[in-house]
Amino acid sequence: MTIQAELAPRYTESPIEETRALIAEVRARLGSRLVILGHHYQVDDIVRFADFTGDSFKLARMATSRPEAEFIVFCGVHFMAESADILTGGEKIVVLPDLNAGCSMADMASIDQTEEAWERLTAINGPDSYLPITYMNSSAAIKAFVGRHGGTVCTSSNAATVYRWALAQDKRILFLPDQHLGRNVGYQMGIPLEEMKLWNPLTIAEDNLEAGVAEAKVVLWQGHCSVHGRFLPEHVDEVRARIPGVKVIAHPECSFEVVQKADDSGSTEKIIKAVSESPAGSAWAVGTEVNLVSRLAAENPDKTVVSLSGISCLCATMYRIDPPHLLWVLEALERGEIVNRIQVDPETARWARIALDRMLELA
Ligand code: 13P
Ligand code: SF4
Repeated sequence: MTIQAELAPRYTESPIEETRALIAEVRARLGSRLVILGHHYQVDDIVRFADFTGDSFKLARMATSRPEAEFIVFCGVHFMAESADILTGGEKIVVLPDLNAGCSMADMASIDQTEEAWERLTAINGPDSYLPITYMNSSAAIKAFVGRHGGTVCTSSNAATVYRWALAQDKRILFLPDQHLGRNVGYQMGIPLEEMKLWNPLTIAEDNLEAGVAEAKVVLWQGHCSVHGRFLPEHVDEVRARIPGVKVIAHPECSFEVVQKADDSGSTEKIIKAVSESPAGSAWAVGTEVNLVSRLAAENPDKTVVSLSGISCLCATMYRIDPPHLLWVLEALERGEIVNRIQVDPETARWARIALDRMLELA
């Protein structure tokens, strides 16, 4: 579905050097009224203009770091911009340069499906039997659901802390929407695989219940990231055969089999730290989005840095944020015209904020 209006040719047909120069000028004129946040999967031509880059946890924190700013231009995907709006209490104007920059994983859990699963599971195990945890990569409505039911949000950098907090409450866990992060971190926390079962939102509840989902300690929502799903366990074997001594580091959105075979796993921020702090001459195969892997390779010329897979694993929605769209939103803001504002309704935001604040307190 295309929800982003097409840009005028003066944006799309200008040479990149001209676009870059115009972005730098308008950004300078907006000064401290503006903060640009950029996720690590953004292209270099966006990252160069970001005041802060980070993983989704760091960017959530950075959203509140400049109280004087009126505008946050979020160069990332929709759920990240929503979280920034929630955490700033709707007091800042949060703008997503291209409205088509969504996240297919976040779209895999709707609020109606979540409420149905909750109703069915709690009808069997009791009203207080579950604690819901949602990955940051989810809609504001899911975050609000989690907030309303005593749960919290996690990111790939704090999922272990959040799991520990949940397990201490001696409840079953409903983990949305990424089965892989939920399984990888659950296993790391000592939960056997057979105690983590999948809830498939696309089938009828009875099928899930017949498969024994209500007996599981952790109910994993059957969602995934199609970008990270392209990394396979055989890629680990191939790269180890090709590059002797290579260390494999994979994002926890990769499958259990890939993460088990890898030397390490972690958020985009952790991946950057591991590679950049390693000694010269090190070799790394990185299981995450290609823009980050290419940048890591360019920034570490004294090391070998390759993608874990030969196929280019690009997040097509992150890639929608490009210099023409950035220039377009910045020029509009300067004129006093707000385009592509991401605004969560107050009731949803109130409960989602409770879930996000719980996460920030745990960290
Ligand atoms: P990080 O929080 O590790 O940056 O991950 C966000 C994301 O969407 C990865 O696909
Ligand atoms: Fe969503 Fe995957 Fe893209 Fe991350 S890489 S934003 S999880 S589609």
